[in-house]
Amino acid sequence: MIYRILYTVFIVNLFVSYNPTLCKTYKYTREYLINNHLFYLEPPQIAFAQDIKQISYPDKCDLKQLHLVTRHGSRYPDPDSITIYDELEKIFANVSVAKDWYKNPFPMRKNFQLVKRGEIEPYFDGLQSRKRYAKFWDGVRYDPEVVKFQSTRTSRTGASMMAFSEGLFNGKGSLDNCKSQPIFYWNEPFNKDDTLVMFLACRRWNETVATNNKILEEQIYAYGNKTIAPIAKRISEEYNISPPLDPHLVPNIFNYCQFSLTVYNRTDAWCSLLSPKELLLSRYYWDLYSYHQFSYGHPLNERIACRYFTQLVKGVEDYLNGNSSMIADLKNTHGTSIYMILTTLVVFKDKFPLTADLTFEQIKKVKFTEFRLIHWSSTIYFEIYKCSGDNVLIRALLDFKPFLIPGCDSEYCEWNKFKEILGDKIGCDFEMMCALP
Ligand SMILES: *[C@@H]1O[C@H](CO)[C@@H](O)[C@H](O)[C@H]1NC(C)=O
Ligand SMILES: *[C@@H]1O[C@H](CO)[C@@H](O)[C@H](O)[C@H]1NC(C)=O
Ligand SMILES: *[C@@H]1O[C@H](CO)[C@@H](O)[C@H](O)[C@H]1NC(C)=O
Ligand SMILES: *[C@@H]1O[C@H](CO)[C@@H](O)[C@H](O)[C@H]1NC(C)=O
Ligand SMILES: *[C@@H]1O[C@H](CO)[C@@H](O)[C@H](O)[C@H]1NC(C)=O
Repeated sequence: MIYRILYTVFIVNLFVSYNPTLCKTYKYTREYLINNHLFYLEPPQIAFAQDIKQISYPDKCDLKQLHLVTRHGSRYPDPDSITIYDELEKIFANVSVAKDWYKNPFPMRKNFQLVKRGEIEPYFDGLQSRKRYAKFWDGVRYDPEVVKFQSTRTSRTGASMMAFSEGLFNGKGSLDNCKSQPIFYWNEPFNKDDTLVMFLACRRWNETVATNNKILEEQIYAYGNKTIAPIAKRISEEYNISPPLDPHLVPNIFNYCQFSLTVYNRTDAWCSLLSPKELLLSRYYWDLYSYHQFSYGHPLNERIACRYFTQLVKGVEDYLNGNSSMIADLKNTHGTSIYMILTTLVVFKDKFPLTADLTFEQIKKVKFTEFRLIHWSSTIYFEIYKCSGDNVLIRALLDFKPFLIPGCDSEYCEWNKFKEILGDKIGCDFEMMCALP
């Protein structure tokens, strides 16, 4: 046995040192790629944790209501990316390092659908919710007026919602041996869904932030030419690619790496073309994009999720006034929506704006990006407490970690203070805000 291992090592060494056409590629482990917050993937020890402790909260307070907004689970790439992977297949067909993996394994008909991990992640979120809020859920029988489920109108959010409900209610329902619970969940057409896909319901956003956005274009072009183009040049020279690789494809190679890892558990192939530094620089290209489209890069994004908060406030007050029996409002949506909800709450704002000319040291320090913080199936809970003296408190958590809302005195924020901070975002006139200027 030992002999065989030595023999293999010897052969491999020989191969590496004597094959003149074998070029340098980078080797990564799954752990390296996931733990460095490059991708949407949540580390498995967190995503699938079972040892969830029940929350504790201040004496003389009772948890009365939960509002959850969560991202759907891991999915296949979007259709545009799959088309680009076809393009990359053609370019890399004759590149020697890619000869075993240049073919695009992503079938177009699967675009945007959940992958297996993506079905399991929200299921675990449901299990974890039951454990974390054991006292709250204890004795709650499913009733569509008491526990509301909502998703956006896509298969990935709908299926994630179902998986979550299984985790939460499985064993408590009436169906079959597993005592599954049938649940009702609702959704609205994209162009009407101003609480969950507010950006698609907002014409002004579409035509002044997503497109015709001068600042976004300036930053993205500057970064593309200054930072991404040299990476394309390096790859073209090192692997003899002619005509040279279009720099716009570099961030897509990064994304290809992310999806190869997510769907096929591969850390070689497209990942092996980029150095650790280039991976982060490529991620930052997308960070710049989403910062300017979905976050603090445009002032409209600090208001655009106002309908989400308007319905949250109404949901809380209707319940506290005895006008509704809803104790949990559980919503499944997209990473971009969550980014906008957090931006409208003005939390996690980095101390400096994200621009093309940040240094690498600064890029490493950027905290609030869709990639770094909003994983597949990330959860945001708003917990509503009623305390002695009719005092109402709200606490916000991202992936079960409480965060401070600027302006609140502590993570448990006085309800009236919370409303004061949101100000006229509550009850906003979405139609007027979103009309073309
Ligand atoms: C790749 O190689 C094949 C055969 O070796 C050749 O027919 C084809 O034109 C090459 N493609 C490119 C893009 O160089
Ligand atoms: C968004 O803007 C683009 C470009 O201006 C336009 O073609 C498209 O129809 C718009 N979509 C919506 C939903 O308004
Ligand atoms: C470089 O800048 C030009 C415009 O000045 C732009 O068209 C091009 O897309 C930029 N390149 C990259 C890779 O962003
Ligand atoms: C991915 O591969 C690693 C070994 O490289 C293995 O430990 C892990 O279980 C695999 N995960 C999946 C989802 O196949
Ligand atoms: C209670 O609900 C009813 C029906 O939805 C509504 O007409 C009424 O204004 C609500 N009252 C309060 C105090 O919110």
